[in-house]
Amino acid sequence: MNKVHKVTFTNTGASYNIEQGESIVKSSNNQGASLPFSCMQGMCTTCVAKIIDGDFKYIEEPELGILTESEIKNNVVLLCVATPITDLTISSYNE
Ligand code: FES
Repeated sequence: MNKVHKVTFTNTGASYNIEQGESIVKSSNNQGASLPFSCMQGMCTTCVAKIIDGDFKYIEEPELGILTESEIKNNVVLLCVATPITDLTISSYNE
């Protein structure tokens, strides 16, 4: 059984328990969130957000060049292909 982490969204205040290895978008939406998505493959940026606290890893690396270097440095993340490796706090991209 994989570890489960608590993922909190600052814009709605909602949190979800997400198993490490699962897509943050897929798992949150299965639990009642309505996170935006389209490709679910790290290609379109519909699911873009910002990590405020905690660590994630990519299940699948996003397409090269989809996020700029400065976005990556600023903890911008494509949630559809990301999974939590600690508890996470996530804000929307422009917050
Ligand atoms: S839904 Fe397309 S990059 Fe995440």
